[in-house]
Amino acid sequence: MKTAAVLAVACLLASQAVAKSPSYHRLPPLREQARLQNEWVAERTAAIPDLLYKHNVDAWLISQREYAEETIFWVLKSAETFSARRRTTYLYMANTTHGGPAAYSWIDNTPQIWDDILEVLERHEPATIAVNDHQELAFASGLHAGERDIIAAELGSRWTDRFVLRPLLSLDLIGTQIAARLDWYRKLQETAWAMISKAFSAEVITAGETTPADVEWWLREELQAHNLTTWFPPSVSILVDERFPGPDRAIAPGDMLHVDFGVTAMGMNTDTQHLAYVLRPGESEAPRGLREGLRKANRMQDISREMMRPGRTGNEILKDTLAQMDKEGIAGKVYSHAVGDWGHAAGAVVGMTNLQDHVPVLGDLPLLSDTWYSVELYAEHAVPEFGGATVPFALEEDVYWDASTQTFEWLYARQDEFHLITTSHLSSEEL
Ligand SMILES: *[C@@H]1O[C@H](CO)[C@@H](O)[C@H](O)[C@H]1NC(C)=O
Ligand SMILES: *[C@@H]1O[C@H](CO)[C@@H](O)[C@H](O)[C@H]1NC(C)=O
Repeated sequence: MKTAAVLAVACLLASQAVAKSPSYHRLPPLREQARLQNEWVAERTAAIPDLLYKHNVDAWLISQREYAEETIFWVLKSAETFSARRRTTYLYMANTTHGGPAAYSWIDNTPQIWDDILEVLERHEPATIAVNDHQELAFASGLHAGERDIIAAELGSRWTDRFVLRPLLSLDLIGTQIAARLDWYRKLQETAWAMISKAFSAEVITAGETTPADVEWWLREELQAHNLTTWFPPSVSILVDERFPGPDRAIAPGDMLHVDFGVTAMGMNTDTQHLAYVLRPGESEAPRGLREGLRKANRMQDISREMMRPGRTGNEILKDTLAQMDKEGIAGKVYSHAVGDWGHAAGAVVGMTNLQDHVPVLGDLPLLSDTWYSVELYAEHAVPEFGGATVPFALEEDVYWDASTQTFEWLYARQDEFHLITTSHLSSEEL
């Protein structure tokens, strides 16, 4: 129907317009942030008894001292807790039918804590107790060696004989995202896009003067001015060939620029890589060879999302993604990872820059649904306008699982056109 078609076109234009003009979002006051974060923690920890059943274990013991926290402590703590105190011990139970709560916690610096823990263990009689001492997976290996030793000495073999490893338990707790967080996660991602758009504009870059390092430090200051922080220093580089980072000089017309940038706030982290082009006088778009490279990287993003089916391992997804790229004549690398509570969060790793055949351990994990990922990759493309040099077209965008479409959808959007930087005063001949 005609009206429907008109409406559809209007919606399409509207959604494109939104994607192209991202806005900054102001964080709520600290007290409101804490209220929201505590609700999110409560919702996630309430799921722990079910997770224990799912992973076939009766109890989960998580213990640490101030400044020697378990990795998983950081997703369990309240917003007003900045570190563990004294000895802080949590004990989660799967089965609560014989009375008693599903979760116990102690903060103590006396031997009384061991008597208390023993009393609870004797009451519940868990046959298996998960502890986080995996040898390879960081999120399942937060139990410090000294803490493990004292637990063994104080609880005795009657209980330590029941200790088991359940690495997928930590993965499930951290990797499973809740719908309540998505709205703010998307706002952080839109803010990251808005900052990149401003960084890649004449407001920040003056050709012949501004260096990539200047743009990096501008991004750091911009984060601070908006009460945001980050989990890695932003990196900006000039891409002229396969070098990464590129040459250290002032940005000039005709340059392709790359940024890797993440925003951290409210216990969440984003991860984004975009490309920009500095227009030469008279140009209104990037040269055809660059647009072709971006198109290949976009195609790799689509293939990656198609292959990311929950339940498959990272290595299976990697293999199929590279096979499809090969079929389509696209060369490049894929290195996608979970994102959210950490920049590199808990979940199956889909390739690493130095491991494109198989990633041991981390690549053998299954992809969860209800999880957040960063689709990270580059396409290699020989650019005629750069004398035929092969250049990496590196892109990164965050996705979330959309239950209604049963696919990973872009958290905010994905870049499919260059950020164009108009430089007013200097032509390339003058530089
Ligand atoms: C929970 O514990 C009760 C009491 O010991 C037992 O009867 C019941 O079978 C347990 N439930 C599960 C699901 O293990
Ligand atoms: C950053 O925090 C300060 C202090 O609370 C506040 O005055 C300012 O408006 C905040 N800035 C932004 C951009 O949210």
